[in-house]
Amino acid sequence: RKSPPCVLVIFGASGDLTARKLLPALERLAAYGALPDEVALVGVARTPMSDEEFGSYCREKVSRGGNQRWDELAKTARYVHGDYDDPATYERLAEVLGECDRTAGTGGNRVYYFSTPPRLFGPIALSLGKAGLSVPEGDSFVRAVIEKPFGYDESSARDLYADLSSAFTEEQIFRIDHYLAKETVQNLLALRFANSIFEPIWNRTWVDNVQITVAETLGVGQRGGFYETAGAMRDIVQNHVLQILSLFLMEPPTSFHPEAIRDEKVKLLRAIRPLETESEIAARAVRGQYTRGGTREELMPGYREEPGVDPLSSTETFVALRLEVANWRWNGVPVYVRTGKRLPARVTEVSMEFHRPPQLPLFPGTSGGLEPDALIVRVQPDEGLSLRFGAKVPGHAFRVQKASMDFSYRSFEEESIDAYERVILDALIGDPTLFIRADEVGRSWKIVDPVLQAWANDSHPIPLYQAATWGPPEAAALIEREGRRWRVSS
Ligand code: BG6
Repeated sequence: RKSPPCVLVIFGASGDLTARKLLPALERLAAYGALPDEVALVGVARTPMSDEEFGSYCREKVSRGGNQRWDELAKTARYVHGDYDDPATYERLAEVLGECDRTAGTGGNRVYYFSTPPRLFGPIALSLGKAGLSVPEGDSFVRAVIEKPFGYDESSARDLYADLSSAFTEEQIFRIDHYLAKETVQNLLALRFANSIFEPIWNRTWVDNVQITVAETLGVGQRGGFYETAGAMRDIVQNHVLQILSLFLMEPPTSFHPEAIRDEKVKLLRAIRPLETESEIAARAVRGQYTRGGTREELMPGYREEPGVDPLSSTETFVALRLEVANWRWNGVPVYVRTGKRLPARVTEVSMEFHRPPQLPLFPGTSGGLEPDALIVRVQPDEGLSLRFGAKVPGHAFRVQKASMDFSYRSFEEESIDAYERVILDALIGDPTLFIRADEVGRSWKIVDPVLQAWANDSHPIPLYQAATWGPPEAAALIEREGRRWRVSS
């Protein structure tokens, strides 16, 4: 796969995301020939820099050297310095884009990557629109790639949509959820629709419950200021969790056409019944915040001690929800989701537990009851799949113990592609499959908004959990009161 000719314009070129993710991903794309000669790079930011300085910055931020194509791209990179709401910035950008078309043969094609703080997305889009830089000429293309968060709640997401769509059509907007670009998330489509053995059991007749865990061991680190305005619900549940959930539970699409897949995802999101009443939210939504914890060797600060965090903050760093999908396939199957920072393991996985067989008393030697059969998709780390089932323990007694069949992504010789590498190339090529459509964004907010509002109005203190534990006790209670347990993820 190869990018067509185009100029990639990065807004927020001197920022953290550009340095950590975008430039290394572009360098790798250059290394394996995915960027033709007719691709140019333009940085836009408030930090003053010359073209040459930006070129050196691009090379510096990529640790491995010896990539000739990347060196050339960095050498010819252009830089526009200015305020994002100043028309002069866009006049200068228009000149630079014209020069790129003439010198690099980029044919009027542009991809704008919004790598700025989210509050600037709207103003940048409006300014691009006013400067006449958002409308493609002739056969060329112009795209806008934006990063989450897509708004702060449903109403601000609508405002952002209005600003973006004053300049761009929905087809031009590529909203990134980097989880969709992870190999194992994409493998959900292969698992479900390239095999015939799973689909017959993928429904309420066989499945007892579904669990999604997105657990991180890290705290908020230096991102306290941002995190205070987000919290785990907006940072992870509204996007990554609901995207994984919809791919895992959606109906089979009629084709792998991007819109066919996105249609099915949004149908599934529409079938999730938002939690509504106060008592329902209290019973089915748990929030938590980490406090100081860990071991004597590694003592971890509490959330309120992190830089940029209000010492009285009630921002949640942990969320657990019990959701239901009200459709024919999943009616009555609880979907438990949880995510948090400073949990004991870094693990993202989806597990599907099957109903227990009725003859369990047939195995009297099996004390404590067997865990249910389960299919576990390990999204990260140790990417792969496990099918857990009961097997007889060798010996005279008829004792059954859990066994597991495992598949690891390591058994492929091919290396996994980094998520950012994939989304950038897809945006350059114009494949929207792994990007989120406006209706998905709106629907996801409808699911999380009522809970966020209830928490904002809740005068009880936020439940706490010690760093390196699995959230507050309320999280275990949420599932245990229904006779189930969270899967023990290691
Ligand atoms: C980002 C969140 O979207 O995802 C971060 O803003 C989080 O808070 C990150 O740490 C996790 O991504 P990954 O790919 O490391 O699992």
